Amino acid sequence: MGLKAPPDQDVVVVGASGDLSARKLLPALYNLSAEGLLPRRGSIVGAAPVDMDDAAFVDFARDSVHKYSRTKPTATALDAFCKRLRFVRLDPKAALRDLRAALKRPRRVVYLAVPPSAFETLILQLGAADLGAGTSLIIEKPFGHDLASARKLNRTIHTVLPEQRIFRIDHYLGKETVQNLLIFRFGNSVFERIWNRDAIARVEITVAESLGVEHRGAFYEQTGAIRDIVQNHVFQVVAITAMEPPVSFDAEAISNEKVKVLRALQPLDPAAVVRGQYTAGTISGQPVAGYRSEPGVDPKSTTETYAAMRLRIDSWRWSGVPFFVRTGKRMAIRDTRIVITFREVPLHLFAGTGVSAVDSNRLVVRIQPDEGIAVTFVAKVPGPEVTIQPVNMNFTYGSAFKTSPPEAYERLLHDALDGDHTLFIREDEVERGWAVVQPVLDQPPPIVRYGAGSWGPKAADALVAPLHWHEPGEGDGL
Ligand code: BG6
Repeated sequence: MGLKAPPDQDVVVVGASGDLSARKLLPALYNLSAEGLLPRRGSIVGAAPVDMDDAAFVDFARDSVHKYSRTKPTATALDAFCKRLRFVRLDPKAALRDLRAALKRPRRVVYLAVPPSAFETLILQLGAADLGAGTSLIIEKPFGHDLASARKLNRTIHTVLPEQRIFRIDHYLGKETVQNLLIFRFGNSVFERIWNRDAIARVEITVAESLGVEHRGAFYEQTGAIRDIVQNHVFQVVAITAMEPPVSFDAEAISNEKVKVLRALQPLDPAAVVRGQYTAGTISGQPVAGYRSEPGVDPKSTTETYAAMRLRIDSWRWSGVPFFVRTGKRMAIRDTRIVITFREVPLHLFAGTGVSAVDSNRLVVRIQPDEGIAVTFVAKVPGPEVTIQPVNMNFTYGSAFKTSPPEAYERLLHDALDGDHTLFIREDEVERGWAVVQPVLDQPPPIVRYGAGSWGPKAADALVAPLHWHEPGEGDGL
């Protein structure tokens, strides 16, 4: 990674016995430790209101590392990691005072790996336990559940901590392929000059998951796809795709440009939004249940598991270029991509050769899986006749770098420990994201159904008509 060990400090994971801690945080901390990228001195303190002690927490951590680590753990590295682990059992009545007693260093990062409903109380408790000074806070999404609650949460946090010590996490920013968008756009001279309304006809962003809501039904009922994916992950991808070149590569310069895009992004028109919910179906040959039958879900639920929309960015660069977005659970495959379709040639010199409007030049950024970038252009099919056909130039991470991208959480945890905000979300970005989706939260369009294993409800096709949503496999280099 070319990174260095951050300054000495403790790492506190509040909610250490939970799912996020087991699947992502402990394995990420282990890998940082194994690569020498944790502070040289400092404990990793797990905290949760459960019956655990240091030894039980070490067992829990070992188990999560074995199950979920990106790299196969070695005994030496795992032992060294486990030596740093401590556990504090939180008594809800003691309001984090026990945590304070367990912290020996003047500086620490506190990760709130807890349900969003607990954020405010815990932040106030941090202040009351006199832990504000010396603490940086990492806070998970969703940050608030609408504009008013996000503003309130920002105000509450600021009574305890200044903005420079708040790290609002969006793990999409930790993905190599999302960071690479900045390099792709601003490190190459060929693309930026055609990255605008003169050359680009439309942009399409798909975040498709084949997984359902799994055991998170109760959480998801209060969230839905717009709050879970669109307001944060998708808007961050839109902002990086559409932003102007920043004056430098530092956090403030990048956030300034992202927020300009979000300001130009017009509040959603509910008529240009489709909300869907999956019914029973089949994925990879396996029957799967419908959303309303998932554990923790209301059998009459109107929470959306799919959302598609047309976004409008009223800026000099993008005026008139539609940005189409769709995201859903229980879709046919897991696939996150950005598809940039360029304008057609001004004159079809080869009319009658089978090349139509859908064969315009296209650039597909495959965020995951099969990370890479493909450019589609047409070529002459060898032979005496003039027959042309789309072909691809394709870059894949696997073959170019002989490695798969590291876990997003490793990079993000390291950067927060190092005080670097570049890959985190600033207060104004998060609030503007909510302002854009607020009209749909206020007046949600009715839910339409789609079968699990499909590409979402038919109603979403009308949004992009007379064209069609990009099909995976269509000029994507795969
Ligand atoms: C999380 C959402 O933020 O992102 C989940 O809460 C979703 O519902 C996940 O499954 C998707 O992340 P990724 O990295 O698999 O695209």
